[in-house]
Amino acid sequence: EMIHEISGLADVENKLKKILEVHKVIVVPGDIDEDITVLKEMGRLAANYIKSIMSNDTIIALTGGSSVSQVVENFPKVSKENILVVPARGGIGRNVETQASTLAAKLAYKIGANYKLLHVPDNLSREALGTMLNEPGIKDVVQNISKADILIFGIGRADEMSKRRGLEEAEIEELLSKGAVAEAFGYYFDKGGEIVYKTPTIGLDFKDVPNIKHIVAVAGGKGKAEAIIATKINNPNMVIVTDEAAAKEILNLQ
Ligand code: G3H
Repeated sequence: EMIHEISGLADVENKLKKILEVHKVIVVPGDIDEDITVLKEMGRLAANYIKSIMSNDTIIALTGGSSVSQVVENFPKVSKENILVVPARGGIGRNVETQASTLAAKLAYKIGANYKLLHVPDNLSREALGTMLNEPGIKDVVQNISKADILIFGIGRADEMSKRRGLEEAEIEELLSKGAVAEAFGYYFDKGGEIVYKTPTIGLDFKDVPNIKHIVAVAGGKGKAEAIIATKINNPNMVIVTDEAAAKEILNLQ
């Protein structure tokens, strides 16, 4: 609290809350691109916030990525019962350490929760998607995801994420030409927050997102400012945890 008053970040948080029309914005002093401990602090504050909204029987869905990874790494002890952690979607990326399934298992282990995994690759053919969705084991996890009480996710830049996710060159060009600037849980958004592309995989359906009680986005760095603005979840219970660099750039872009 004190550090926010000294650095004037409480004022920035309030401005951002109004601009982005969300429940709460938490801004960590500094810039994740210059100081890796800033990302850690974002993770810690996000984790503390999430702990404060958890109750018995809470279902947590989370995405992969380095930002959500820091939430998991810095999660405090929790003494709630029957917590379930699930990955928000399938998607076996290149980096096993920060995949959603890995993070779901790690968080569950850390807080003594149950977890379920969704071992489904990204970029499935339509036929494969249909077949997989009929598998009882997969159906069960997808149902849990759709009933999540808390969603924790990272926001990426469309240009970076489409490469990281191994989309084909033609697909990358297509989605960028459609104006994609942001990516979150497999959906690509244009500047106006419209979905322009959906990764063919299994997991969280965008139409279920407004029903999730608590939505916590963790994303920082100046380069993500536009992506953060574009990721319009239209959920009044959305909380954004970011760094000072992104926060100031978002204000600049207004
Ligand atoms: O969907 C966006 C990514 O999860 C962001 O990943 O936290 O590693 O930048 P990152």
